Amino acid sequence: MSNVKTIPQGYLKVQIILHWIVVILIGSQYLFKNTIASAWDTIRSGEDFAFHPLILLHVVGGSLILIFMVWRLVLRVRYGVPASPENDHAIFKVISRIVHVAFYVVLILMSLSGLAAWFGDVVLAAQAHNILKVVLLALIAMHILAVPFHHIVLKSPIMKRMTTSGD
Ligand code: HEM
Ligand code: HEM
Repeated sequence: MSNVKTIPQGYLKVQIILHWIVVILIGSQYLFKNTIASAWDTIRSGEDFAFHPLILLHVVGGSLILIFMVWRLVLRVRYGVPASPENDHAIFKVISRIVHVAFYVVLILMSLSGLAAWFGDVVLAAQAHNILKVVLLALIAMHILAVPFHHIVLKSPIMKRMTTSGD
């Protein structure tokens, strides 16, 4: 492997696998959020909460998301990501770059705020966690809508970029 950084032709297999694992983990965080949210309310009202496996799932799932996002960030910085599709208008290139980078920032902050709330009892961190969950949903909506938009309007099959690796 050469040390010279060039723009890659496609995402690495490891980048693709991590992308889809994180998608599943995020889905599970939203799907099973109620148990940890009600345990949190119980703690805030000064009572003891009953242990539930879904609480552990949220803590472990969220921590894995943090580890995987840091790993992906290292890969992005060291290896890079492919250039935007050629027929993308400049404005879409900018928007997609902003959304992609925002995912890293929001997911890392979301995990850290969850950990600070749960293990440090920081109420402000729980409030931040609750605001970030809405920001993350907005990013996901934009990100998912971009797929049919690229396929139908811009006629560029971007889905292939996250299913077929460049290595
Ligand atoms: C990126 C990863 C994470 C996502 C997407 C996520 C998502 C969520 C969502 C959607 C809620 C429900 C909030 C509500 O409607 O009441 C929630 C609550 C909560 N999460 Fe996470 N979470 C993540 C990581 C973590 C981690 C690592 C912890 C650490 C233990 C954690 C601790 C909590 C706590 C304590 C609550 C209850 C807060 C409250 O209801 O005010 N989260 N999370
Ligand atoms: C739900 C959570 C999701 C998150 C947090 C997420 C995050 C990301 C990020 C950060 C990238 C940029 C590449 C990288 O840095 O690895 C990316 C690329 C991509 N994602 Fe997602 N994604 C999610 C869901 C999805 C879903 C559901 C689809 C398909 C419907 C999808 C399809 C794609 C595609 C096709 C690319 C490549 C875009 C390109 O570079 O041209 N993603 N995603």
